[in-house]
Amino acid sequence: MALRTIRTEGDSVLAKKSRPVKEMTQKIRDLILDMLDTMYDAMGVGLAAPQVGILKQIVVIDVGEGPIVLINPEIIETSGEQTGEEGCLSVPGMSGLVTRPNYVKVKALDINMEEVEYEGTELLARAFCHEIDHLEGKMYTELVEGELHHVTYDEDDEEEEY
Ligand code: NI
Repeated sequence: MALRTIRTEGDSVLAKKSRPVKEMTQKIRDLILDMLDTMYDAMGVGLAAPQVGILKQIVVIDVGEGPIVLINPEIIETSGEQTGEEGCLSVPGMSGLVTRPNYVKVKALDINMEEVEYEGTELLARAFCHEIDHLEGKMYTELVEGELHHVTYDEDDEEEEY
C-alpha cells in the first residue's frame, strides 16, 4: 500500500476522460487500495482515479459509512435537488456552492467485477455525482454558483472534499 500524489487543478489529466476497466488485475487492485489510503490520508470523502493520474473509471467513496468502490460507474436514476458547499481534493482549500440531485442511484462493478447498485441521498448523492464527473474530465468548479471561495478555518470541519 502506498499513498499516491493527488493531482491538482491545472494538471491536464483532470480534464481527460477515463477509460472503462475491462478486467481486474493485481495492478488495479493495488491502485484501488492506494486510492483508499490516499483518500483517508487526505481526509476526503471521495477520490477518482484521474486525481492520482490514472485515466481509468474507478472511484472510491467513504462518507463515514464505510468504503465504497465503484468501477465503471453509471448514474441510472436521480431525483430532487440539493444546493450546498462542495470542495475537491484537487482544488485544496477552496469551496463553492453546487446544485446536485438529492437522490442518486448508481450501477457499477465492485472490486470483484461483480455488478452492484448503490442508492445515496444528500452527501453520498453529491459524492457520486462529483466523482463520476471526474471520470468525464469535469471539475466541480465549472458548476459553482457564485464565487469559488477560500475555506475558512471555522468552516473546515463541515466542508467535505472529494
Ligand atoms: Ni474532486
